[in-house]
Amino acid sequence: MSQAKNEYDDIAEAYRDSKQLSFRKYLEEYSLFEMLGEVRGKSVLDLACGEGFYTRKIKQAEAAEVTGVDISAEMIQLAEKEEKDYPLGCKYVNRDVAELERAEPVDFVVAMYLLNYAKTKEELLRFCQVSYNVLRSAGRFVGVNDNVRNPPKGTASFAKYGFEKECTSPPKEGDAILYKLINEDGKQFEFKNFYLAPETYQWAFQEAGFTDFKWVDLQLAPIQRGNLFWDEFLSNPPLIGLMAFKR
Ligand SMILES: C[S@@+](CC[C@H](N)C(=O)[O-])C[C@H]1O[C@@H](n2cnc3c(N)ncnc32)[C@H](O)[C@@H]1O
Repeated sequence: MSQAKNEYDDIAEAYRDSKQLSFRKYLEEYSLFEMLGEVRGKSVLDLACGEGFYTRKIKQAEAAEVTGVDISAEMIQLAEKEEKDYPLGCKYVNRDVAELERAEPVDFVVAMYLLNYAKTKEELLRFCQVSYNVLRSAGRFVGVNDNVRNPPKGTASFAKYGFEKECTSPPKEGDAILYKLINEDGKQFEFKNFYLAPETYQWAFQEAGFTDFKWVDLQLAPIQRGNLFWDEFLSNPPLIGLMAFKR
């Protein structure tokens, strides 16, 4: 089923190019794979996969089967073009995660910046329920999200890393968090996430049936440790990992 026009349809290529920013590689990607551990031979659903950046990386790490799901038709088109040009065996579905059903349970649900699109606790619960339902027992949810444990006080500049965040201070449930990105080629673009309190996340995972929900601080790749460039990011972390288990 094809989806109505989405915010990411207009910024799909700029967002793809933002994956070249160094924090993606040294914090985001490193932390995701640390949280995942071994994926060889596993089945993975990459929810809000965008143009498939991590879908491909997870397949390249020898997962048996990886399917990316995204609401933006443009993002999925970019992902499918990449798959056509450089086949890895990734599959893609253009769908709202809230409407997702799947017959075959998977070992991992990966959600890189999905949950911060929930504007209400009910929407967040729905994302968590879908994730729970598609996991096999002893499966795991792993993701990276806007760091709702450390909302910016108004505007927070992470300019040296290529972005800025803005929101009301203190934020209320459902308030927008505006991200302004500047890519390495100077191209600027924006998108919005939504704030829900850390307790709401805790509640939604528990209500969906997950056990042992936890926040996971992003880790810097060993090759960059000791590089003072990262101090501002690490002392005021704008992003956070999260993990939960299905018994
Ligand atoms: C910040 S991008 C992240 C893309 C990718 N996970 C990555 O890390 O490169 C967020 C993505 O979430 C998708 N998205 C937002 N709400 C969604 C929903 N309800 N169902 C599926 N995808 C959604 C957007 O279309 C966008 O591609």
